[in-house]
Amino acid sequence: MVVEANIRVGAVSESSAELVVGFAFEAETLSGPLSELAGEPGKAYLAQAAEREQFKAEWLKWWSTLTWGHLGAARLVVMGMGPREEFSLDRVRRALGQVGQIASDLHVASLAVDVSTLDSGNVEDLGQAAIEGLVLGGWQFDGYHQATDKPAAADADRPVTVDFYLGAHSPEPFGQGMARGQTLAAAQNMVRELGWTPSNRLYPEKLAQWAEKEATQARLEVEVLNEVRLRELGMGAILGVGQGSVHPPRMVILRYRGGGTPTLALIGKGITFDSGGISLKPSAGMEDMKYDMLGAGAVLGAMRAIAAEKPALDVIGIMAIAQNMPSGSALKPGDVVTAFNGKTIEVTNTDAEGRVVLADAVSYAVHLGADFIVETSTLTGAALIVLGHEASALVATDDRLAEDVLAAGARMGERIWRLPIYPEYKKLYESDVADIKNSPGRDAGTITGGMIIAEFAGDVPFAHLDIAGTAWIDEGPLNKKAGATGVMVRTLTEVAQRLAGFRD
Ligand code: BES
Ligand code: ZN
Ligand code: MN
Repeated sequence: MVVEANIRVGAVSESSAELVVGFAFEAETLSGPLSELAGEPGKAYLAQAAEREQFKAEWLKWWSTLTWGHLGAARLVVMGMGPREEFSLDRVRRALGQVGQIASDLHVASLAVDVSTLDSGNVEDLGQAAIEGLVLGGWQFDGYHQATDKPAAADADRPVTVDFYLGAHSPEPFGQGMARGQTLAAAQNMVRELGWTPSNRLYPEKLAQWAEKEATQARLEVEVLNEVRLRELGMGAILGVGQGSVHPPRMVILRYRGGGTPTLALIGKGITFDSGGISLKPSAGMEDMKYDMLGAGAVLGAMRAIAAEKPALDVIGIMAIAQNMPSGSALKPGDVVTAFNGKTIEVTNTDAEGRVVLADAVSYAVHLGADFIVETSTLTGAALIVLGHEASALVATDDRLAEDVLAAGARMGERIWRLPIYPEYKKLYESDVADIKNSPGRDAGTITGGMIIAEFAGDVPFAHLDIAGTAWIDEGPLNKKAGATGVMVRTLTEVAQRLAGFRD
């Protein structure tokens, strides 16, 4: 569904939308919100019905009823928010995500959402979280089913009108947040679409074309470096990773010019499929490796959102795109490649390919004059071991940049946990034949992955976000089906805003 949102100041009971939604808190009387929804304060017959059905407004439990002509809307849903003291904007986003799923399951074309009971200190962020939840929760990958088999599919482009009833909330900041949330969530869904698309349909040339199309629509400058250009530039690392595939690598350079300083570089790993290469992965779950381009996807989504928000700084987006395949021409364990900046890498494990393609991308960002580099990638299985699916791992060489990234994540509701860099880890990736080896072994795997990439940033403040555990997750309120999340679109966009000094 494609959400078109409006703001209403009147009474939600007058809405003629197909579905009316309200929010209730645990251990609070239901007659307040429910009688208001019914437009009959004091009568509260709906509250009695809800109580009779044991609805207690526990977190993410909802009560649904047909209204039989008592309301303009045919159906009412009351979403449980849990105890009021546990209220957060993150809960708003998730609750609205669940509402988005319900609306999409019911195939409604219009809904009215009464946010008057959602108490937030910051009405702008409330508007943002609410619309993000709806747009993300209502999204689903259409897939390639033969149309007659799956009539519920092909939902992606269906328009849905949403009226937010604000109560006492101020419309102007709510509307501003809503506009921002629309931009971000739509960009995020584009990234999810990229993630879901299988690698026979999204190989390097295709991903680069997709980026060109997005860039043109967003009025970003775009340049695609093909294999010939990559060779001229001396990018032996990304060429090495891609040399086993019939689909040669690409590097996409996106530019947003906000007319200010500093210059921020956003860099993403874009492995359209990671078989492991000659260091082949086990077959169980290998299909998930079509998602190994979601770092590059997040960069594309963030660049699109940045182009819409127009912060006052310059941003370079770099997507390092290759397909990691075994073949007679593939890189072999022990091979040594030379990156753009002249540093050599001994590839002891061809499955540690992300850091290799990123070596070229990061050193190229330095060459292009980046003042800050934030890079994101589905880099290590170890990130899943340490944080599971609940947070992304941060490895940063600069405390101030790390603070910006953490603050951006906190504001945007994307959890990030910083890991330490200790100099002792360096010996883990020393090589006897090259400047660095790419696969240091299991110890501190997420940290050494980030540190190896950081080696190519020189003195430029550098932050690495490992999204191996967060880029695709099981189904949940914001994720109708297990799959891509579009994580880091919001955080990277907010990092740009913070570095532009627009926000605190
Ligand atoms: N794309 C994988 C990391 C990954 C694994 C992401 C599982 C999501 C889920 C990456 O290229 C990889 O294979 N990393 C290796 C690195 C190791 C060989 C140093 C890993 O994590 O095992
Ligand atoms: Zn990979
Ligand atoms: Mn790999």
